[in-house]
Amino acid sequence: MAFRGVWGLGRASPGPRVWPPTPDPNPALQIPQRFLMGPGPGNSDPRVLATQSLPLLGHMHPPFLKIMDEVRQGLKYVFQTESNYTLCVSGTGHAGMESTLVNLLEPGETLLVGNKGIWGARVVDMARRMGVNVVDLKKEAGRTFSLEELTAAVKEHRPAVVFLVQGDSSTGVHQSLAGVGPMCAEHGALLLVDTVCSLGGVPMFADAWGVDAIYSGSQKCLSAPPGAAPLFLSERALAKVRGRKTPVASYYFDLNLVGDYWGWYGSRSYHHTGMVSMWYAMREALAIVAEEGLEAGWARHAAAHDQLWAGLTELGLEHFVPAPEDRLVTVNTIKVPEGVDWAALCKFAMERYAVEIAGGLGPTAGKIWRVGIMGYNAKPANIELVLAAFRDGLAAQGWAKK
Ligand SMILES: Cc1ncc(COP(=O)(O)O)c(C=O)c1O
Repeated sequence: MAFRGVWGLGRASPGPRVWPPTPDPNPALQIPQRFLMGPGPGNSDPRVLATQSLPLLGHMHPPFLKIMDEVRQGLKYVFQTESNYTLCVSGTGHAGMESTLVNLLEPGETLLVGNKGIWGARVVDMARRMGVNVVDLKKEAGRTFSLEELTAAVKEHRPAVVFLVQGDSSTGVHQSLAGVGPMCAEHGALLLVDTVCSLGGVPMFADAWGVDAIYSGSQKCLSAPPGAAPLFLSERALAKVRGRKTPVASYYFDLNLVGDYWGWYGSRSYHHTGMVSMWYAMREALAIVAEEGLEAGWARHAAAHDQLWAGLTELGLEHFVPAPEDRLVTVNTIKVPEGVDWAALCKFAMERYAVEIAGGLGPTAGKIWRVGIMGYNAKPANIELVLAAFRDGLAAQGWAKK
């Protein structure tokens, strides 16, 4: 009868066996060493990983709140903003995406989505679920929007928010933001930008470019594990969130509440348990970015991109993105030549060199390979390995430059 006392089930009939009991502790967890040179996650900086084994603090303890403040400060630097409204959303890039959309838009308002890859398509899907009126402005994979095209669409549809992806990891394009912020402001729209695979790897000047909201991801150019979505709001964007007529439909992502936990409004109150070890990691990751300096980091990414393409061109491989000015340095897209089995090459790279090279995604599936050059991985030795994998992988398939 003691079981009934403890579990409410009754000792005489403990119920069916619960199986399996626990993960088998023997053998201990073994993780193979891999070079994560796909579109992400990339390898974390060992200094960042080391912080995650530090002892936990309580999520409201003053030393931990200080770490959160330092994360906000580091984010101000990577976003290049004076705005105090930076934080990390608990979750991956999608959490940042969902969080910005659900806070900046009210049901019935219009969102103009610059849709040129899988991320635009996801934003269309998410926003429709929120009862937002979505204008899906599509662009062929591998191309970017011109300021003229965006201006015409904004004038026609009068959106409350315009969404663009800076670095599109499904196609390898880099969307220029030149002039877009001021144009949106002139027409009463907020500009929201996805920087999941670009923040820290290519220039971003949130204030100077008039961007209103940005989300990103920890696991790419910031060299931390997946689990944090850096977020930024301008004063204008915050005013929109604070002045909403309807409550934010998501409790977990409500920036009126989450912002309070991060100290946006002067007070600090519990909203959800802070991701203690993850915020240690972000603090270290942002400190590493600051130590190197943003400009030096952007130059390192660009140099690695040039090194990669010098080698790939010599092998006879070609860019998927036709216009040189549209090419993203952090996620590189490479056309699969006729007669080559792209998946076999990826398998070869992993088995022979422990190098991850990815295939296409969404509109580019089966047509391209994707090589990520992000954060800790943007260094000559890693690029040499990727090139060796391509050289030997293509030779193994009997393919040679014509
Ligand atoms: C440009 C871009 N946006 C959004 C995402 C989604 O991020 P996550 O997979 O971290 O949720 C990714 C992930 O690869 C991405 O590259």
